[in-house]
Amino acid sequence: MSLADLLPSMRSMVQSRLEENVWPGGTTVDERGELLVGGHRVTELAGRFGTPLQIVDLADVRRRCRAYRAALPGAEVAYASKAFLCRAVARLVDAEGLSLDVCSAGELAVARSVGFPGWRVLLHGNAKTPEDLKAALAHRVGRIVVDSLDEVDHVAALARDRQRVLVRVTPGVDGGTHAAVTTGVEDQKFGFPLSTGAAAAAVRHVLRQPSLRLVGLHTHLGSQLRRVADFELAARRLVALLAAVRDEHGLELPELNLGGGHAVPQLPGEDDFDLAGFAHRVRAAVHDECARHRLRPPRLTVEPGRALVASAGVTVYRVVAVKHAVRTFVAVDGGMSDNPRPALYGARYLVRMVGRPPAAPLRTATVVGRHCEAGDVIARDVPLPADVRAGDVLAVPGTGAYHHSLASNYNLVGRPPVVGVDNGAVQLLVRRETEEDLLRRDVG
Ligand SMILES: Cc1ncc(COP(=O)(O)O)c(C=O)c1O
Repeated sequence: MSLADLLPSMRSMVQSRLEENVWPGGTTVDERGELLVGGHRVTELAGRFGTPLQIVDLADVRRRCRAYRAALPGAEVAYASKAFLCRAVARLVDAEGLSLDVCSAGELAVARSVGFPGWRVLLHGNAKTPEDLKAALAHRVGRIVVDSLDEVDHVAALARDRQRVLVRVTPGVDGGTHAAVTTGVEDQKFGFPLSTGAAAAAVRHVLRQPSLRLVGLHTHLGSQLRRVADFELAARRLVALLAAVRDEHGLELPELNLGGGHAVPQLPGEDDFDLAGFAHRVRAAVHDECARHRLRPPRLTVEPGRALVASAGVTVYRVVAVKHAVRTFVAVDGGMSDNPRPALYGARYLVRMVGRPPAAPLRTATVVGRHCEAGDVIARDVPLPADVRAGDVLAVPGTGAYHHSLASNYNLVGRPPVVGVDNGAVQLLVRRETEEDLLRRDVG
């Protein structure tokens, strides 16, 4: 038993135990407060690559890809690349045999640049531009998930060789998540509502296009979803539509894509998504509903994004200033330009001071960014050592998804680099954006 176990006041100072579930697997912390991610000291990485810095533990991503494939044998697992895409991740996902969900010609360009096979790419989006569609067709993507009747016409006009498509359906299932990422309810911009008959009409419209081949249905209920029952309900409703398509058109569609949205723990004490329960219960629901309708069970696709990369990411900041006002503000050298999620969705984070042992007990502080908005908050009311000061290094876990991909140049701040750690190896994956990069676009 250590001294910290015997003296509660001491324990609150040392902060040496790592919170469960929120850090990349294998992350450790020592008594001096040094945090090691993928075998590398975070403070050393901060010194070498500068701050703010985004670290992604590729071994952790690989482990999660394997867990998904093992939990869902026979199903297609497509990584939703909007969560975070760079060439190294595209290569990893390819090597692990996953498919790739892209939403733009830009995401597709990254996939193409590493030779990601087109037939394992799905193109999504509610307003795909002609450039997106042309790039997708040129790369012969496996499937395009159509989202409007206009788009069906556009794809049909451009396509050759009977392009495979899925129809995106909004099944009227509310996943109980933040409104900004709720996409299974019918009153929103994505997909064709089921209950109004719009989805069935979209199927009819696709089937009239000789250049398209309808292969299935798609739905995506939202993000940070925890209730497996919502996926079961959506699956049952979509199977009923598959049966209706069979009855009306004599066509059994072979694919059912249930999207992503599987939640990740963001704070200590939060559970992982029940992947085993999902795999078992959703498959049982599909089989049961198919049996009821005398349908052959379709091949399932799932599209996790966050669940594969969020917990593999750690963002590292340096404290610029500490202000004891009405509350204690700890201001860092990044902010909403590298993490807009607190402002967008009220996302909550854990923050840990790393690199030196604290000399004072924990006290509540609010970690804020450097940007010109009062809402530029990274973590409100989190415990930090009372002696936290300018120059200290802070690490924020759970920042692998929708951070780099949502980053901006607000205040003309360059986006941070991404460094990959992988079983002892370390590699710069995306370099820091420089002033030169920013000025190069400004051609006026
Ligand atoms: C169509 C589609 N599939 C999958 C995902 C991935 O969601 P998540 O990262 O929450 O798993 C998204 C996210 O917006 C999506 O729009």
